[in-house]
Amino acid sequence: MISERLKKVEPAPTLAIDAKTKQMIKEGVDIVGFGVGEPDFNTPENIKEAGIQAIRANRTRYTAAAGIPELKTAVADKLKRENGLNYKPSEIVVSCGAKHTLFNIFMALLNPGDEVIIFSPYWVSYPEQVRIADGVPVFIPLDESRNFEIDFDRLERSITRKTRAMIVNSPSNPTGAVLSEDSLMKLAETALKHSLLIISDEIYEKFIYNGKRHISIAAFMKEADDQLIVVNGVSKTYAMTGWRIGYLASHNREIVSAVDNLQSHSTSNPASMAQWAAIEAVQTPDSVVQAMASEFDRRRRHILKRLRGIPGLTCVEPEGAFYVFPNFSAFIGKTIRGRRVSGSLDLADILLNEAKVAVVPGIAFGSDSHFRLSYATSMENIDKGLDRIADTLKQAR
Ligand SMILES: Cc1ncc(COP(=O)(O)O)c(C=O)c1O
Repeated sequence: MISERLKKVEPAPTLAIDAKTKQMIKEGVDIVGFGVGEPDFNTPENIKEAGIQAIRANRTRYTAAAGIPELKTAVADKLKRENGLNYKPSEIVVSCGAKHTLFNIFMALLNPGDEVIIFSPYWVSYPEQVRIADGVPVFIPLDESRNFEIDFDRLERSITRKTRAMIVNSPSNPTGAVLSEDSLMKLAETALKHSLLIISDEIYEKFIYNGKRHISIAAFMKEADDQLIVVNGVSKTYAMTGWRIGYLASHNREIVSAVDNLQSHSTSNPASMAQWAAIEAVQTPDSVVQAMASEFDRRRRHILKRLRGIPGLTCVEPEGAFYVFPNFSAFIGKTIRGRRVSGSLDLADILLNEAKVAVVPGIAFGSDSHFRLSYATSMENIDKGLDRIADTLKQAR
């Protein structure tokens, strides 16, 4: 019944635990949730107002498949103003969220058997999207002891005749790692040397800490800027996950028009009123976003301190996004209240049952000895959840 293409797509390993969490919440169990990948802030008022105005002005019809010219111009202006990048409105395609943008890119780019390099830990959808597009994900483990930096020898050895692209995600989901300028430069060199495309997912660019500044790899791709696709969106930066607006920017005309064409036959266009709201979003004063970023930073420092205070857990300091990715390998092989911990699914299940805390098992991101916590939740929840996790892990034997 099911196509060969979709048979290759794995059901999310976290499905069972997600379902159990939802069921427990429904039954009224007091669960502290660290699972969600979205800001807990509301969409700023000026953006909501722009969406409402668009509906009132009857901007409720089909638009151009790649997005309204006004939004593409506003995105081009944003890329120039904030990232120092020169893209024309015609080099931008707006889609229904950055996830959709990425999906379109893989569909447009890959032939059966084409390889895409994915650094691991990775965002959960990259490998599955590559598989849906008949590509082959090739995983390169990042070096946790060096803040999840890239091992370039290993990268070189993994490139084959079939390698088409590399996905760069800095700041990263799930580790929060921010790649160094040196790594970005070397990645650009590698892409040039092997004629590979770089897909740079910059969705967390504004959530970056310790005085760091986001640098787009585009800064180092000037010699071969048609080998780069920048992916971004409004979901995380402006607390707009439900509006579904993401975009790509690329000087590669072939890819831009292939994605436009594909989109015109699939979703047509992203929702018209959401596009008008996104114009307001990309023009929102930076102070509004900075207020959210500094609240995330306060929570980040607190949750990191709490995690590092739990014997047996180690945690690399995340410098971006809104996730922490603690390593619990010291607990593997131990038992907690009679349950053996053999991997991240067990640990997450034990934390759910015993601590009433929901986390995402690291296996979803390619590591079975980590779990992910999102700190897009209140300080009270962070303390309550971390107290519970500490109490439960204390019982490991
Ligand atoms: C790394 C990364 N890229 C892309 C996305 C997709 O964002 P959206 O489709 O909401 O724009 C997410 C969302 O979780 C993400 O974490």
